[in-house]
Amino acid sequence: MEMTFSIIKPDGVRRNLVGSILGMMESAGLRIVTTKMIHMSRREAEQFYAVHKERPFFGELVEFMCSGPVVVSALEAPNAVVKYRELMGATDPKKADKGTIRAVHALSIGENTVHGSDSKENAAIELGFFFSGTELVNRAG
Ligand code: CMP
Repeated sequence: MEMTFSIIKPDGVRRNLVGSILGMMESAGLRIVTTKMIHMSRREAEQFYAVHKERPFFGELVEFMCSGPVVVSALEAPNAVVKYRELMGATDPKKADKGTIRAVHALSIGENTVHGSDSKENAAIELGFFFSGTELVNRAG
């Protein structure tokens, strides 16, 4: 069993898509180990996306991620990291495969509705950023 980390971004929460996106995760075989709605501060968004701080879109990304509430979740499945990345589709919704969360819901490369960890190592870091061990209440394995 493996865990990954997900964010339903402010554009998804704002458009009332939380239930349908969590449903897509469950239908794809990802177990919701825990989930909560939070409103990130600018400092938290800057820390979370620190790996991108030299990128030209960093300011816009931070601004967007603290523009409204988000839903953070821990998801569990065999190969959860890859499984969730496949379910999300490509970062740019124009390039995302049909039926993926971003193909169905994303508005643009910035407002792309969901974030998911890109490796097991980053999943552990990102889960630790938002959750304590005692919050991971619904593990199967
Ligand atoms: P995410 O998986 O959350 O990780 C970094 C985010 O930067 C990415 O999804 C995009 O939403 C966002 N972003 C904004 N502009 C760009 C861009 N030009 N190229 C790549 N990512 C971008």
